[in-house]
Amino acid sequence: VDLAPGHKRGLLLRNPVMPASGTFSWGFEFEQHFGREGIERLGAVVSKGVTMEPRAGNRQPRVAETPAGMLNSIGLQNVGIRACIEELAPQWARWDTPVIVNIAGDTVDEFGEMARMLDGVPGIAGIELNISCPNVDTGGMEIGQSVEASARATRAAVRNTDLPVIVKLTPNVTDPVQLALACEAEGAAAICAVNTVLGMAIDIERRRPVLPRARGGLSGPAIKPIALRIVYDVAGAVRIPVIGCGGITTARDALEFLMAGASAVQVGTATFANPRALLDIIDGLEAWCAANGVTRLGDIVGCARPATV
Ligand code: DOR
Repeated sequence: VDLAPGHKRGLLLRNPVMPASGTFSWGFEFEQHFGREGIERLGAVVSKGVTMEPRAGNRQPRVAETPAGMLNSIGLQNVGIRACIEELAPQWARWDTPVIVNIAGDTVDEFGEMARMLDGVPGIAGIELNISCPNVDTGGMEIGQSVEASARATRAAVRNTDLPVIVKLTPNVTDPVQLALACEAEGAAAICAVNTVLGMAIDIERRRPVLPRARGGLSGPAIKPIALRIVYDVAGAVRIPVIGCGGITTARDALEFLMAGASAVQVGTATFANPRALLDIIDGLEAWCAANGVTRLGDIVGCARPATV
């Protein structure tokens, strides 16, 4: 699958399955468990969100499991973009798997600056704009909630790098399609839908929210129907590839997103219960294709959509 067809570089993946940003941090733990062979079975690796300066993240606790899914308020804990370029990228360059760096600017200009810094760095194949983090008070989701600001952030990044720019949308808006169209018009190579859904939990013994910040991002199977609906709507509107993300746990879930119109999928929460989840999904997709006479997964992308005339 090419996630950036027509782009000067393209973004060629051996299969459409990759971790969602944040789930593998920088990918090295996964490499420790499953070796370089494991890494090199994945379609791509997506990094944890990187910010201009290193961040310690929010106060603990910042993850809560609820019966409906996982809540997180990590707050973009990360090593900062300089360490990413100097220390992580040289290690990524060893892998024969494209690494997509998720970047989270506080301002529109910061998205542009970070895109410029990543341009031409060996070991980095693409950029994912995180305009959808629900857990920081600056930038983040504020940009992703405005069509105009999302467009400006996309433009700032696209004009400063030859790398394909994927824009990751928040589900916490009424009209994700307008956001996607605006980012496409500014040169986004692909759209990723979606980041986490705002939610919360209350500890009735303490009579307080479980997370100190009260709100957090909900992920896992509970948000799959929400993500699937957004992917279906966005894929029906844009011409660029859409990456589906939200509650994908099995190959069958991944197939739903592909049939809704996603060209690729990201898997996050499922990897916490099952570190092999990505590899199991890749195996499951292969088995499904073999059993159903499908030779290229691309052939089923969007097949659940009504035919257009
Ligand atoms: O749910 C999320 N949590 N989405 C993000 O984009 C970032 C992450 C965090 O670090 O809080």
